This record gives sequence, C-alpha cells and structure tokens, in this order.
Amino acid sequence: MAFKSSPLSCVKWRLNFRSVWPFLLFLGCLSHIVFGQIRYTIPEELKRGSLIGNVAQDLGLDVQRLRSGRARIVTRQSIQFTELKTDKGILVVNERIDREQLCGDVTPCSFSFEVILENPMELHRVTVEITDINDNSPTFRKEEMKFEISESATLGSRFLLASAEDADVGSNGLQKYILNTNDMFGLKQHSSPDGRKYAEMVLQKPLDRESEPKISLKLIAIDGGTPHRSGTVNIDITVLDVNDNPPVFNQSFYRAAVLENSLRGTYITTVNASDADIGSNGLVTYRFSNMKEQLADIFHLDESMGTITLAGHLDYEKEKKHEIMIEATDQGGLIDSSKVLIEIIDVNDNAPVINVMSFSSPVPEDSPSGTTVAIINVIDADSEQNGQISCATDSALPFKVKSTITNYYALITVSAFDRELEPEYNITVRASDSGTPSLSSTTVLRLRISDVNDNAPLFDENSYLAYITENNSPGMSIFSVSARDSDWNQNARISYFLEETQISGNPTSSYVSINAETGTIHAVRSFDYEQLKELTFLVRAQDGGSPPLSSNASVKIIIQDQNDNPPQVLYPVQTGGSLVAEMVPRSADVGYLVTKVVAVDVDSGQNAWLSYKLQKATDRALFEVGLQNGEIRTIRQVTDKDAVKQRLTVIVEDNGQPSRSATVVVNVAVADSFPEVLSEFTELTHDKEYNDNLTFYLVLALAVVSFLFITCLVVIISVKIYRWRQSRILYHSNLPVIPYYPPRYSDTLGTGTLPRVYNYEVCRTTDSRKSDCKFDRAGSQNVLIMDPSSTGTMQRIQSEKSILDEPDSPLEVSFSFSAL
Ligand SMILES: *[C@@H]1O[C@H](CO)[C@@H](O)[C@H](O)[C@H]1NC(C)=O
Ligand SMILES: *[C@@H]1O[C@H](CO)[C@@H](O)[C@H](O)[C@H]1NC(C)=O
Repeated sequence: MAFKSSPLSCVKWRLNFRSVWPFLLFLGCLSHIVFGQIRYTIPEELKRGSLIGNVAQDLGLDVQRLRSGRARIVTRQSIQFTELKTDKGILVVNERIDREQLCGDVTPCSFSFEVILENPMELHRVTVEITDINDNSPTFRKEEMKFEISESATLGSRFLLASAEDADVGSNGLQKYILNTNDMFGLKQHSSPDGRKYAEMVLQKPLDRESEPKISLKLIAIDGGTPHRSGTVNIDITVLDVNDNPPVFNQSFYRAAVLENSLRGTYITTVNASDADIGSNGLVTYRFSNMKEQLADIFHLDESMGTITLAGHLDYEKEKKHEIMIEATDQGGLIDSSKVLIEIIDVNDNAPVINVMSFSSPVPEDSPSGTTVAIINVIDADSEQNGQISCATDSALPFKVKSTITNYYALITVSAFDRELEPEYNITVRASDSGTPSLSSTTVLRLRISDVNDNAPLFDENSYLAYITENNSPGMSIFSVSARDSDWNQNARISYFLEETQISGNPTSSYVSINAETGTIHAVRSFDYEQLKELTFLVRAQDGGSPPLSSNASVKIIIQDQNDNPPQVLYPVQTGGSLVAEMVPRSADVGYLVTKVVAVDVDSGQNAWLSYKLQKATDRALFEVGLQNGEIRTIRQVTDKDAVKQRLTVIVEDNGQPSRSATVVVNVAVADSFPEVLSEFTELTHDKEYNDNLTFYLVLALAVVSFLFITCLVVIISVKIYRWRQSRILYHSNLPVIPYYPPRYSDTLGTGTLPRVYNYEVCRTTDSRKSDCKFDRAGSQNVLIMDPSSTGTMQRIQSEKSILDEPDSPLEVSFSFSAL
C-alpha cells in the first residue's frame, strides 16, 4: 500500500523532526517528487535478515532502478530496524524489533521510514507495523506476598493481592489469575477502570493457627497468548494466634508419693498443661485451687514450671494423703484444672512412747514370783511395720514383760526377791518397733524392795571371851557384843538381852547387865577372883520385826586375879597372948629342922607364889629360912653359949606386882628340958606387981568370957535362924576369909605354898572382931604353948585381944568348929 504524501505532512514532519531532517524537508518542498506509500505488517521479534516485503515489486520499480537510483532508507529512528537489499529489491529485518520496547502499550505499533531514489528523485514511505507476539509473561513486581491474618478472621474476609503486569498487549496481555488449589482461600478477580486486572483472596474456611500456622499459596497470572505465558508469586500467610485454646493438662489426675520425713524443697511431681496457643496466649501458669489453708504451707507449686515441691513438714500420722486441685491458666484467662493425689509414705519417724500406767513400788521382798509390778502402755504413731511394737526388759533382772491386751504390757517378777541382796532394781523397759531402722525408747522403773523381817540378828561371834580384873568398880563396862541384822530399819533394830540363867545359884543379872541398845556388858558388882573365876552366860539379840527374830551367843568372862591378898601365915600361929616356941635341943645337928613357916596366899599364880626370908634374928648365924619352903633350919651346931631364947622374924612375900608380904615371929627355945625353957622364958617377965594384978584381971576376964560365951551362943543361934530365912538373899559377905590349914600338911607338901584346893576351906563368922577361928591342933611335939595365965609373966599380952584369944580354952576351939 503506497500513498502520496501531501506538503502538509511535510510541514508536519518538519515540526516533528525539526532539526534532524532539514535535507528531507528541502527535497520534499522544492521539487516535484514522485511519492509512493507501502505498508507492511510483520510480527515482532523476527530474526535478522527475515523478509519484510519486496519493496521493488510493491513500488513498481525494477531492481535496476533501485540500483541506479541508489535507493536507500532514510529513517528518523536511531536504530535501523530494516535494511533494503537493493540487489533483490527486498526489505529485511536488520535489528531485533521488540514491539514492547518500540511501542509499549500503544497499539497498533508501527514505525515508518522513507526509501529515497535519485535520478529522479523518488520518495516512498514505508510503514512497518509490528504485530504483538506473546513474548512476555505476566510478572509480579514482588517475588512474594506476605500476609498476617488472625486466625479469628471471619469467613469472607478479602485480601487484595498484588497484580501482575504483562508487557504484551491484547490477548497476549494478562488475562486472569489463578490461586493454587487450597481449601482456605478463594480468588475473586476484578478489572480496574483502566483495564488492569487484579484479584482478591477471599477466606472461605476458618483459620486455625494451631493446626496450620502458616499457609503458602501461589498466585499465578496467565496471559491470553498462545501458548499461554504465566507469572507466579508466592503468598505467605502467617496465621496470627488468637487465644482460642485453653490450657489442657496432660493428665486429668496426677499421683505422687513422698516420704513423710522428706526435707523442705523435696521434689514431688510436675504437672503439665499445654496450651495450643502461642505467645502469651499459650503461657500457662499453675496454681492450687480450693486448697486448705494449712496445705498452702506444706506444698509449693512453681507457677510457671508446674513442679510441686515440699515446703513444710509432712506427718503421715496426721494425714496419709493429700488431694489437691490445680488450675492452669493462660494469659487470656482460659483455665483447665486437674487433681494431684500426693500419698505420704510412712517413715519410721516415731519412736514408741512408753506410758507407765501403774507401778507399785516398793514391793515386799517376799512377793511370790509372778507378781505384777507395773502395767505399761506403749504407743507408736507409725503404721504397719513401723508401728509394730515389741517390748522387753533386761533379761539379767528377774523380771519379764508380758503382753496382755494390745499395747498393754505387764511387768511381772520371775523369781523371788531378797532385799538384803538387791534392795532395788532399775528395770529398763525397752519398746522397739519393727521399722527399718527400728526405733526404740526405754523407760527405767526404779523398783524398791521393801523389807520383810526374814533375817535374824547374827552375833559377830558365836561365843565371846572377855577378861576382867577382879576388884573392878561396879558398873564398869567389860566389853561389847554386837550383832548385825541384814534386814532394814525396824527389822534390823537390835536389842540385846541377857538370857535368864543362873550363875552359882544367882541370876546372871546380879553379876552383869547388858545395854539393850549398845550391847555393852557391864559388871554389876565388883568381882572377886577368889570367889568367882569366870562367868558364862548367854546374850540374846532380838530385832524389832514383827514377829521378832532373835539369836544368842555365849559369853564367857574370865575374872583375872589381882594381888589383893597378902600372904597369910598359917603356922606358926601368931597370937598376941600366947607364946609359942619351937624347941631345939642343944644336941641338934647342923641342918636341924626347927620348924616350917607355912603361909598361903589366896591369890593365884604369881600373886600366890611365896618366898620366905629371915628378916631379923637373935643370932643370924644360927638359923636360916628356906626361900621356897619356909623351913627354918640350924646352920651350925648349937652350943651351950647360945641363948635359950631365940627370936626369928620371917618375912613372907608373894610375887605379885607390887608384892605383898607378911611377917611372922618364930620363937625358938634352945634347951634340952622343958623347965629350962620355962625358967628362961619366965625371966622375961620382970614386973611382979604387974603379975599380981594380973590375977585379978584374969578372974575378971573369966567372968567376961563366960558372959561373952553365952552372948555368942545367943547371937549364933539367931544368926542361924536368920540365915535359914535369908539363905537366898544373903550370899555375899564382906568378911575376911581365913583359910583353914592343918599344919600337918605343910610337911607333906614340902612347900610353904598351899595348893588352891585347900584355900577355900574357909571359916566364916559374922564378926571378925569378936570372933575368930582357931585351929589348934598342936600335934607336933615341938610345939610349946605358953599360957600367960599360968605363968603370969607375959608382958606382951594385950588387954582385950588376949582375953578373947584365950588359947587354953579348948571349949572355945571346939565351939568355933561347931559354929560352922
Ligand atoms: C538406780 O538408778 C538410780 C538413779 O538413776 C541410782 O541412784 C541407783 O544407784 C540405781 N540403782 C541400781 C540398783 O542400779
Ligand atoms: C540359843 O540358840 C541356839 C541356836 O542358835 C538354840 O538352840 C538355843 O535354844 C538358844 N538358847 C536359848 C536359851 O535361847
């Protein structure tokens, strides 16, 4: 299609291309030019060299003309899209032609150029219309689209999607959008007034973040070309959480067990509730609900972790389990609850408690075995094994524990007691439970055993022996007996008594007494060894029990001698009135036994051991005295020169400490005949007048003696009667004892000391001053009794005594005997 252009269009061009084409403008306006117009239509994007059209043919020109006319293309465009092949007269594509680049949205899209020929000048317009091919895909500006949609978004909510662009036009442009298949969203397409197409996403199903927190979709934009081209964009949808889920416990019931002795902070269990929501909506806190106040101190629940720990003390004995409600709350206030059962495991943490219900102390020692002493109650707060009690006591002690009824035990005796061996018992009662380890507790019962009078007093010795020296003061304590009683108190309180026995016919109590409290034995009287040598009696110790028990012991008291008696000279008899002389014939040889001094000592032992010494003598050279036997012997021949009358003083000493002594005067007449002796002894009497007077006195004395005799007779009879009546009372006499010793014995024994057996042949009278015993057995021929009454010359005769001691009255002597 060719057309001729008008000058107007030249102007127009000029306007359009003012400076570029002045030359063309010049040609067009100043010469008569042939104009042709050709129009080609080609698709875009042809390859270089592709044929656009046969210009020569279309313009009606031959190839020669083109060549000669030096046909060429004049174009206003910077890019030479086309090339004229003058040799073939065709127009080919010189450069890639992109419609979109060339025209954009403008349709139809074309460009024009002129083909100029010279000689003659010809100007032909060629317009090439470029048709669209679908060479562009719809594109989205962004690579992805992001949405945050709350899960609570209502159905039908619409979300505008970014639109895609397609550079192609017409049917090759964007035709529609497609959303990849999903249940959630639908797509709604719209066209804007300017023809642009856009789409909206419409919520078709409720969102649930918990099941699908993110949704990825693809939006595809499709053009209408053939084949279709498309562009895709990802749509990322983040579903925003809404607190639409309550927390949920993973167990509806929790069970835990904890030892009752667990420490604070001990872990018990963890509860767990999950919340499907996220963030604060899913943040669960825990707490106890409806809990008893006291439990709040015992258990602690970690708000956020849900761990339950021990915060206080558990006591199985108070509560065996705890059931606690727990609530889990999310921040949005949604709640779930569950239950926790905490079982407490018994621990043997309670020792048995012993209560003594009754205890009898003291118990009498004679209680039979099997006596119940105490009743004990034992309680253990623990349960089962931990609370199973066994009760026992020290097996060394005579007690055992007997179970009676549950938790009650009786402490009974298994043997008899003896307070004297064990006055008390500390009985340890131990109660143990059967836990592991076992706990036990003990209690000590102090049982006292009360006394029963089962022991008699016991003397330290079975028999006592004591000594006392005679002549003790009455009331003197001799010694003490003592007895022990192993009983207690009153039962051991000992009193001492004398058993009523007789000693020499007198009651013991008249000799000794005993202090009932102390057991001290006192002498009641002064003892005389010469009378009583020993005392034997029984003492009794008696306790204060009821009935009392007693025992006895024998006591022997030996009275010891004291040198309280001087020797007594039995021979020669010492008389004041009469003169006794031993005759020694002048013819006597040396060693002639003149006489023997006989003395006794009623004491005994050393105290009675006598010795004889010559104290004074007329002629010391003539006589000697046997130290031991008291024999007086001549030690030289008697001569005529020796005086008739010899006077010897012999001292008799005992061996006591201090010693006691007696002297005796022995008259010895050295003569051959009695008259010689007489005359000699008569010479001794010097006073004649005195002798005359003496005759008178003798008569007087005879009268007095007669009187005294009668008086004595009366007295003695009365005494006899009195004794007969008072024989039991009158026992003791203070009267001196004069031993009777027949002189004859002195020879047979050969010693001055008489054996004891004779010493007690005594003679007693009521009055020593008035009367005495005489044993006048002048059996020896040597004995000469000088009677002053017959001689009347004795100067030494003393008045009263001489009368009383009248030796020549045989009647008196015989009386003395008969009086006994
Ligand atoms: C018993 O116990 C007491 C005090 O605990 C103690 O004085 C006493 O000597 C004890 N007796 C025995 C027999 O052990
Ligand atoms: C002294 O005790 C003995 C036994 O100890 C007894 O046989 C005797 O009869 C008792 N004597 C008196 C006098 O009680």
